[in-house]
Amino acid sequence: MALMPRKKRCKDVAVTSVYDGSLDGNSTVGKKVKFGDVGVFLVERRMGSSRRRFLTELAWKKGFRVEEQMSDLVTHVVAENNTGNEVLELLEKQNGICRAGFDAVLVDIAWFTESMGAERPLEVENRHRLQEALKVLAESAELSESEGRYLAFSRASSILKSLPYTVTKMEDLQGIPNLGVHSRKVIKEILEDGTCSEVGNILQNERYHTLKRFASVFGVGVKTADKWFREGLRTVDELRASNGKLTKQQEAGLLYHNDLCVPVTRAEADWIKHIVERAVRRFLPDAIITLTGGFRRGKECGHDVDLLITHPDEGKEEGIIYQVVNWMTTKGLILYDDIMGNTSKGKSKEPEIFDHFEKCFSIFKLEKELVNNLGAETLSLCDPLAGNQTRGGGLTAATETSHQVTVVATGDKAWKAVRVDLVVAPFSQYAYALLGWTGSRLFERDLRRYAKHVKNMSLSSHSLFDNEQNIYLPATTEEEIFAHFGLEYIPPQERNA
Ligand code: UTP
Ligand code: MG
Repeated sequence: MALMPRKKRCKDVAVTSVYDGSLDGNSTVGKKVKFGDVGVFLVERRMGSSRRRFLTELAWKKGFRVEEQMSDLVTHVVAENNTGNEVLELLEKQNGICRAGFDAVLVDIAWFTESMGAERPLEVENRHRLQEALKVLAESAELSESEGRYLAFSRASSILKSLPYTVTKMEDLQGIPNLGVHSRKVIKEILEDGTCSEVGNILQNERYHTLKRFASVFGVGVKTADKWFREGLRTVDELRASNGKLTKQQEAGLLYHNDLCVPVTRAEADWIKHIVERAVRRFLPDAIITLTGGFRRGKECGHDVDLLITHPDEGKEEGIIYQVVNWMTTKGLILYDDIMGNTSKGKSKEPEIFDHFEKCFSIFKLEKELVNNLGAETLSLCDPLAGNQTRGGGLTAATETSHQVTVVATGDKAWKAVRVDLVVAPFSQYAYALLGWTGSRLFERDLRRYAKHVKNMSLSSHSLFDNEQNIYLPATTEEEIFAHFGLEYIPPQERNA
């Protein structure tokens, strides 16, 4: 997206600003603004209203001022998947803002998320434009099922993210490995012209946006998204109205789509972990439950909650998933579940994409109020699974089974649908499962490639096989796995790239 260099300062407004809750009117009302001279306007187009609401609240919590309408108080216009021109046209049309008089900086969502992570507004840098361009190219490659190009652009984007300096000229990239010719070409174009025509074309492409929209529905892969696009479908509403054949997972995905598009917060993830911990320990008091995925890597929000379950007495964990999910379903905590039994003995000498653990891809029903008021006190007082409680404290009175969903997700309801993956690993495979389920996806791929090509070993979420010695290498901790590779331990926070 194009950037406009001029910034507007509004110090006088901001120092005293407090959030009036106008976008969603809840828990951040009255929060003080820390960064008065920055006024953020989030463009809803392609971001969606739920995500915009979530990001607004997050920004206020971090001390940013978010303007509901475009005005002179806005210094940063944040958009997602729109070109600079598209945003300007939109602002002209909807807000009567004329291009010539436009005085705010157009920035991509990458600036926003990085600023949230840093808890301060970052300088707008080329780096945000470069990263975003590579991200769009990676997504487009993924939607065309072009694995090689997807990996190349994803890696390039990660490399730029991890550089301790800002790239301002091509010489800054000298000697950096794994940056392909195509990625370098894109970077060069952006550094020289401010935009990249290839990225601009993708952002104008209807197929890209439609496939991205459909693939965001739980249970929908690229092939299905493409099929629907070729059938002429364009929006999720059209899909709902089309009466086409859907899997149970897709039905649930569509039913709860609005909620599932809203990122899961850390507080929500902690709360779900607590619920699952209580449920599992009802059956296995000494079970260990670990939050994995992006949250273990320190992310503030994610698309789902990933939980790993094990037990020190190997064998005791077998079948636990059925007991736990059935029990939680009778308590009204689960809206959808898809349980998969253990599909093999686990260990494999060949690296595999999918693991064979007992697991459940589910959708939880989470009481919003509980999470908003979450604190140490609440955790003990309002335990959703304590005693004979029937309502409040996280429980809903109705006992639904996962495939007979009757309540449609709406914005003003008291609960939120949240995607949760529950994975059960035997204790001897726990360290490998933890490593595999912590991600990121790219980190896992690269670690497995390293194992194969450099160490002649096969790494999976179950085991590590040494092809030279012809033995499995046991590990009880992640540190031991890194030691098998002769690598220094990489903590989860450093596995984002
Ligand atoms: P996620 O898809 O949940 O990604 O998988 P994430 O990193 O937590 O990010 P968000 O915030 O939810 O989008 C977490 C990790 O679990 C492994 C992958 O390695 C991934 O990095 N995983 C996921 C599997 O091994 N198998 C699966 O079926 C899904
Ligand atoms: Mg996740």
